[in-house]
This record gives sequence, structure tokens and C-alpha cells, in this order.
Amino acid sequence: MSGGMLQGKVALVTGGSRGIGRAIALAFAEAGADVAICHLGDAERAATLVQAITAHGRRGFAQEADVADPAATRAFAAAAEAALGPTEILVNNAGINIRGPFESISEETYDRVIDVHVKGMFFMAQAVYPGMVARGRGRIINIASQLAFKGGPNITPYVTAKAAIVGFTRSLAWEAAPKGIQVNAIAPGPIETDLTRARGPEWKAMIEGSILAGRLGRPEEIAATALLLAGPGGDYYVGATLSPNGGDIMH
Ligand code: NAI
Repeated sequence: MSGGMLQGKVALVTGGSRGIGRAIALAFAEAGADVAICHLGDAERAATLVQAITAHGRRGFAQEADVADPAATRAFAAAAEAALGPTEILVNNAGINIRGPFESISEETYDRVIDVHVKGMFFMAQAVYPGMVARGRGRIINIASQLAFKGGPNITPYVTAKAAIVGFTRSLAWEAAPKGIQVNAIAPGPIETDLTRARGPEWKAMIEGSILAGRLGRPEEIAATALLLAGPGGDYYVGATLSPNGGDIMH
């Protein structure tokens, strides 16, 4: 393939083996990028994705790396660079949710959710940032959630983490923009993935009945926003959080 809007770029997507990350990795490959992904315990689907990237005529790379461990993120960034070249676009997408009433949340649960989202994003970005600074360009896209703004019951660690992602995005944008690096976030509404399928059909029906779009979103619809922020159409977004959310929350 040639002539895509990300032609010849190298992108790194955390949590790319399935769901939103997979859709972003594929959209980037279709647009001409070589794509590295990491995952946790999902090697088979990661390998399938690399095959799909290769089918688009691009190079793919996958490695298991727990983003909650900064040493693992650094090792992943180094391995991805050795395989594909310097990272020009980073998508911090890996995420989990552990639900429960506030009073039942253990320190262990709190640490895990915060570490995967916040520590993961922070140190993954730090692993690729110096290279972006040296080259004078780069894009960092952090996947937050509409729940950062809306909140919700029984998800205090998740919402705390997602709000931190929005804050980090705004703060790093100040340092990064003068260096030619744009840092932005995406706050998706409810999207049909393993993460939401786990909620069951009643929850899905409730969402379909209450959301203005009348349905859950598709991972490809978040990938379209990531493609905008990664490509030339995203040149004027700095520290923004875009909200493809079916009208679930307007801001
Ligand atoms: P998913 O469960 O389908 O996929 C999660 C991906 O992250 C997988 O590739 C998994 O291997 C990877 N992962 C999980 N923990 C990891 C870790 N510690 N280290 C490295 N990789 C890890 O989830 P989905 O729905 O695709 O979510 C992706 C992102 O989008 C998450 O940050 C999630 O919070 C966010 N999001 C999802 C929404 C939804 O409705 N599905 C809505 C708003 C935000």
C-alpha cells in the first residue's frame, strides 16, 4: 500500500490485541503505518493482528508487556524500535476495569487499576518522548473515557484513573507542543468490546435505551478519531480530549 496519511510512520499501540486498540492498529496500518502493539496474556490474538497488519503490506510487531511495570514498557519500546524504527505515534490504550462499591475497593485493586492506566501511560510516554523531542515531532494519544466526566457507580478506581489521563494529557501538552509533539486524548462512550460485553445483555439494552445514538459504538469509530489525531488533520489539536460517545455526554 502507498500514499496513506500515515505512510512510512511507526506507531506503537498498547493493548492492541483486541477491541479499540486492535481497531486503531489496523486503521493505522491501512493508512500506511508500521505498527507495534503490546498486550497482556493475549498472544494468539496479538499474532493474528500482526498477520492482518502484514496483509496491509505493513510491518507489525507484538510483544507481551504489562504496562503497569515501567521496566516492561521501556523494554517494549526498545524492542519495537529495534524491529520497526523510532516511534512517531504512541497510543496509550491498554486498560482494565475492576468494579465494586467504593467501600470494598482494596488497596490492591486501587493500585492495579491506577497502575495500568496512569503509571502505564506516564512511563510508556516517557519511554518514547526523548526520541520524539530529538526528531522534533511526534504524536501521543491517550485513551481516556467519557466516564472521566460523567462518573458512575462502582467504578471509582477506573474513573479516578481516566480523569488522571485527561489531566496528564493537558499537562504534557504544554511541555511537548513547543517541541513539535502533540499530546491529545480520546474519551470514548460505551464501545462494543470484551470490556463491555462482560457487562451482559441487560446492561447493553439499558445503554441502547438511554444513549442518543441508540447503540453502543464500534471500535472502528474510535479508530477514526485516533487516525484524525495521528494524521495531518490533527495538526491543530493540542491537549484536547475528543469525545466520540454517541451523545451520552455533551461537552
Ligand atoms: P479490551 O478488554 O477489549 O482490550 C484491552 C487490551 O488491553 C487488550 O489488548 C489487553 O491485552 C490489553 N491490556 C490489558 N491490561 C494490560 C496491561 N496491564 N498491559 C498491557 N496490555 C494490557 O478493552 P477495550 O474496550 O478495547 O478498551 C481499550 C481502552 O479503551 C481502555 O483503556 C478502556 O478503558 C478504554 N475505553 C473503553 C470503552 C469501552 O466501552 N469499551 C469506553 C471508554 C474507554
